[in-house]
Amino acid sequence: MKYPISVELVEKSRISEVDFSNLVFGRNISDHMFVADYIDGEWTDCRIVPFGPMLMSPAIMALHYGQAIFEGMKANKDAKTGVPLLFRPEMHIERINRSAVRMAMQPIPDEIFMNALNYLLDIDRAWIPESEGSALYIRPHMFAIDATLGVKASDNYRFVIMTSPVGPYYPKPIRLLVSEKYVRAFPGGVGFAKAAGNYGATLAPAAQAKEKGFDQILWLDGIEFKYLQECGTMNIMCVIGDTVVTPNLTDTILAGITRDSILHLIRDIGLKIEERPISIHEVIEANKSGELKEMFGTGTAAVLSHVSEFSYKDEIYTLPPLEGRKVGPMIKKVLEDYKKGIQPDKFNWLIPVKKTILITSHK
Ligand SMILES: Cc1ncc(COP(=O)(O)O)c(C=O)c1O
Repeated sequence: MKYPISVELVEKSRISEVDFSNLVFGRNISDHMFVADYIDGEWTDCRIVPFGPMLMSPAIMALHYGQAIFEGMKANKDAKTGVPLLFRPEMHIERINRSAVRMAMQPIPDEIFMNALNYLLDIDRAWIPESEGSALYIRPHMFAIDATLGVKASDNYRFVIMTSPVGPYYPKPIRLLVSEKYVRAFPGGVGFAKAAGNYGATLAPAAQAKEKGFDQILWLDGIEFKYLQECGTMNIMCVIGDTVVTPNLTDTILAGITRDSILHLIRDIGLKIEERPISIHEVIEANKSGELKEMFGTGTAAVLSHVSEFSYKDEIYTLPPLEGRKVGPMIKKVLEDYKKGIQPDKFNWLIPVKKTILITSHK
């Protein structure tokens, strides 16, 4: 191993404090975290330690100039063997490294990322919930740690992975407000990166949408305020006639791994797909003519969220009821089953967690 990992186990696990029948997204962090530092030009000191606070200078550059990026992924246990399964981790490595390059940060070597996931999930495998629809959410993130106030790229970084058991996501179909004022991302900007600031910038518009009774914002492009981009923190797909239509990827859209997986699965069952610009006017016309059969958001947290209504220029457009929908509900089930090894791993997306040399008992 080029990057050996040291392990310090918790003295006493906190797992008995967790109510696995009522998991609130992100509330319970598992016993251990992985930490590595990029210091003086190299990744070093890879370690698994008990999850807890870190001592940090208020001058670290991540807090001031926003060099902070993250990923969101999930692991499940194989429904038959109980082995923890990672879903397309290489896609998350590629994406965090695209984010790193755009934010002038240090890419993380594949070996560190993969071994960290393997160790962490092996050690905290008891935290992977098994009930229908639940999973272990995994949050890798990296931030600038130079404590200096000059505006420049930091020289040193910290990479951390923590995990959190999350429950089934049973939200009602969502109501979207098409934003005519705010933009999530701009050409030439950082919308394709999972940069922390992208999320901070959406919180006030999202709160305003909530106040008006909507669940999420349907983001349009920032130049013409015409083309669909994403909804909330999900990619967006529409079923128009017999075709699944989704915006083609640009630098203003985060390349969702759920999006990519769903497109593979849809293609595999022989449905038509178009990845192209979709104007809000086309969607409204399709809704009026009855051709807009379904609309849904895709992302790791919810897998697939059905859209029931959207509002544009104070007009509400209602989609057909869930009961009549075919593509969204079917593909959601296929993808959820796939992640638990219930479907054959046709695309080689599942990476089983290997037993590390450690005895994984909680003291
Ligand atoms: C802005 C944004 N778009 C789309 C997605 C969906 O991406 P993924 O399917 O990889 O979770 C996410 C979540 O990561 C997101 O934050």
